[in-house]
Amino acid sequence: MKIYSAPLQGFTEAVWRNVHAAVFGGIDGYYTPFLRYEHGEIRNKDIRDIERKNNSVENLVPQVIAANPDEMRPLLNLIAGEGYSRVDINMGCSFPLQMRKRHGAGLLPYPELVAELMKEVAQHPEVSFSVKMRLGCNSKDEWKELMPILNDAPLRHVTMHPRLGIEQYKKPVDVDAFTEFYTACKHPVIYNGDLNSLADINRVEQLFPGLKGIMLGRGLLANPALGVEYRTGRELTNAELGNLVRQMHDALMRELTPRLQGNTQFLSKMKPYWEYLLPDMLKRDKKAILKATTIEKYMNAVNDGLAGY
Ligand SMILES: Cc1cc2nc3c(=O)[nH]c(=O)nc-3n(C[C@H](O)[C@H](O)[C@H](O)COP(=O)(O)O)c2cc1C
Repeated sequence: MKIYSAPLQGFTEAVWRNVHAAVFGGIDGYYTPFLRYEHGEIRNKDIRDIERKNNSVENLVPQVIAANPDEMRPLLNLIAGEGYSRVDINMGCSFPLQMRKRHGAGLLPYPELVAELMKEVAQHPEVSFSVKMRLGCNSKDEWKELMPILNDAPLRHVTMHPRLGIEQYKKPVDVDAFTEFYTACKHPVIYNGDLNSLADINRVEQLFPGLKGIMLGRGLLANPALGVEYRTGRELTNAELGNLVRQMHDALMRELTPRLQGNTQFLSKMKPYWEYLLPDMLKRDKKAILKATTIEKYMNAVNDGLAGY
């Protein structure tokens, strides 16, 4: 199976992807957080995130979010202009603001909108499109009406995160519904959702041996070695993991420090990584990292935390 890194707004931007690939590796493809076209423009931040000069990973897939072809076209033009021939379409985002605009999972109750997007897809044979979706927005049967539309579209694969949009990340993933989807989907399928360990990945592979791959999100933020552990079939020791996390953290700091001004910007970028990273770290150390108010306090707390590995 292939192993993909999931898009996570605010986390898996270019700097994180570059550093992750250089220090840990083990990933067959990185997906960018979604790019959007809003108020007649594309945010500079999103443009920078896919610019070639800012990306050193080769296997990068830009993701777009759009409710209709008019919103999608400017994004496709930008992506083609940067020389990418891959595009992933977000039909899974559960941020209420996006869903209200019929973006992400907000598209799933509207087969006619999905059909419009798939018509646009068919008009770009030079691009290899994929879709990342949930079972539905409000009901776990919504995907069933979309299946003929998606099956007829020229897609490279479909990634399924078997939850509903309205559930965000709370309820357990619905493995039975995933099984139905996996059987009905004629495109190669990628599984996504709650894979946090090598044992989780192996279990899903055994259950669904025909998967094209799996996509790791928060599990990869927590244990950035998960991809390489799957490839080698061996979990890293605590000492190995601690050492590599230190390297990745230092590289992230080196890259981010010149871009972020002052304590506040720096801490508000770095601290959220620790909401996920190394969940087994001593609670006391983790708390000190998350509460740090200066870079010095932050670094001391990170050093203390990593010393336990
Ligand atoms: C903070 C955050 C940001 C996310 N941003 C995106 C995004 O930009 N595009 C997308 O398709 N999914 C996004 N997701 C969903 C993840 O890609 C993934 O589908 C979800 O977290 C389930 O997988 P996991 O359990 O491996 O994390 C986001 C999730 C989180 C928690």
